[in-house]
Amino acid sequence: MTAPNSLSDHSLDRDCTTLSRHVLQQLVSTHKADSPLAPAAQDISAIMNRIALAGKLIARRLSRAGLVDNALGFTGEVNVQGESVKRMDVYANDVFISVFKQSGLVCRLASEEMEHPYYIPENCPIGRYTLLYDPIDGSSNVDINLNVGSIFSIRQQEGEDLDGKATDLLQDGHKQIAAGYILYGPSTILVYSVGAGVHSFILDPSLGEFILAQENMQVPQHGPVYSVNEGNFWQWEESIRDYIRYVHRHEGYTARYSGALVGDIHRILMQGGVFLYPGTRHKPEGKLRLLYETAPLAFLMEQAGGKGSTGSEALMDVIPGELHQRTPAILGSAEDVELVQSFIQERLREAEFANVH
Ligand code: AHG
Ligand code: MN
Ligand code: MN
Repeated sequence: MTAPNSLSDHSLDRDCTTLSRHVLQQLVSTHKADSPLAPAAQDISAIMNRIALAGKLIARRLSRAGLVDNALGFTGEVNVQGESVKRMDVYANDVFISVFKQSGLVCRLASEEMEHPYYIPENCPIGRYTLLYDPIDGSSNVDINLNVGSIFSIRQQEGEDLDGKATDLLQDGHKQIAAGYILYGPSTILVYSVGAGVHSFILDPSLGEFILAQENMQVPQHGPVYSVNEGNFWQWEESIRDYIRYVHRHEGYTARYSGALVGDIHRILMQGGVFLYPGTRHKPEGKLRLLYETAPLAFLMEQAGGKGSTGSEALMDVIPGELHQRTPAILGSAEDVELVQSFIQERLREAEFANVH
């Protein structure tokens, strides 16, 4: 006899809300009929659907990467950031372009892997949106079969961008309409926000659909994890070293660092704590890029009740000077981000005092 709800029974054991239905519900319920976003709800839902398609294609490639030719390793090229390009970076970058090329939704795509945005002029009269993305985040993990991610952010195009310089993108994080990430781990998880809470979806490979896992996620106000590359200890400002000394000397802290921001941030979103990528002596702005790494993650953290800071200002308030601008980043539980900031402020006060006297 087969027990009800056993694995051989293919009935659904949860209310299967798909991503596209969820996005539509969110936009319709949170924006009044006269809001400029209401007519765009279908567009945003369709864009999210395309991002999900890109995620499925990338997840499929990653799961078979060791079995097919030319999926792993480096291309031999160096990208605009001066970083060696991996084959998977190129593949994932092209996947996003190809899923949006025919969509009629997105007019420009700006990515870590491209010096200038990729323009799709035929889409411009219909959908004036820009997708900003990091196609593979944590690409050093690809060749060793550890988790990686994709990060995305959607902004409305402002102005004509006739000179092709996309200067209208150089605005603060509050201009983001939606943001999120896809984590390629033991399962593929998509986390997004359209400014009305943070929601996660798990890819059911048998259905090919992202199914709602958690709605209105809240990051704990404090958590045990601190996530930072301590190999840079002697490259940091003294204030960051003060914070790390503090966690070393107090019980209740534990270090976790995977080399892939999306995975580390996902852990913190679920369990609380703080992720840091501070400036270093050689790179005062740190490593992470604002428009397609730290601003989308700050948007999510704030939506989940957490915080995102450069150390001196909210990440969401930073106006970049250029498309690929880097910023120091402190992201996570509100109390933990504030604690790091308190060490920074303390050192600033000391420096001011020393200047005056
Ligand atoms: P990317 O693979 O997109 O270049 O990003 C890598 C980032 C981020 O995912 C991670 O947190 C960080 O770089 C790791 O850098 P370090 O090796 O310097 O710690
Ligand atoms: Mn990255
Ligand atoms: Mn990347």
